Amino acid sequence: MGKTILLGVTGSIAAFKACDLIGMFRKKGYTVKCVMSQDAKWFITPLTLETLTGEKVAKDMFELPEKRTPEHIALADEADIILIAPATADVMGKIAGGMCPDILTCTVLASDKPVVFAPAMNDKMFKNAMVRENIEKLKKNGYHFIDPVKGRLACGKEGIGHLAPLETVVSETEIILKKRG
Ligand SMILES: Cc1cc2nc3c(=O)[nH]c(=O)nc-3n(C[C@H](O)[C@H](O)[C@H](O)COP(=O)(O)O)c2cc1C
Repeated sequence: MGKTILLGVTGSIAAFKACDLIGMFRKKGYTVKCVMSQDAKWFITPLTLETLTGEKVAKDMFELPEKRTPEHIALADEADIILIAPATADVMGKIAGGMCPDILTCTVLASDKPVVFAPAMNDKMFKNAMVRENIEKLKKNGYHFIDPVKGRLACGKEGIGHLAPLETVVSETEIILKKRG
């Protein structure tokens, strides 16, 4: 095995689920590194992610890198796959637009590895025409998706936008990783 999964965590109410994902991947023998989006810090702390992964968490684009290579380039090179779970509408929109204002989006744009999005958001956001367009554009450009499911949303309602079951996120990620071989 010995593969490295770079887990992108974003500013979604489902960000806490990244903790379980880390455990599930580590149990299978993967190295997990985390990179946080600009607003992920409002939902989960770097300390938690760093403790669970046992690896330094990338969270600040302009922090002095430990080595001479800029951190987003090193992270992109070291990863075998990038999984963004949960993925916000915001992060998908930025990447679809080729924008990279934070270390997560910069790492994705600097990567030639498979990138998998597992979106999570309110049902109306998920159905929004702009969000749909961004998802279609990303798919057309070879990005992978693990679609959200119907479930209880942060607003208390039931709807489509609930992060896919973590078992599905893990198994789909492994399938994509193995295909890449
Ligand atoms: C309580 C709360 C929950 C949120 N949950 C989500 C979510 O699940 N999905 C989403 O796309 N945006 C969600 N948002 C909006 C994002 O946090 C916001 O767009 C943010 O700028 C995303 O930043 P990021 O993409 O840099 O992580 C939520 C906002 C709040 C205040």
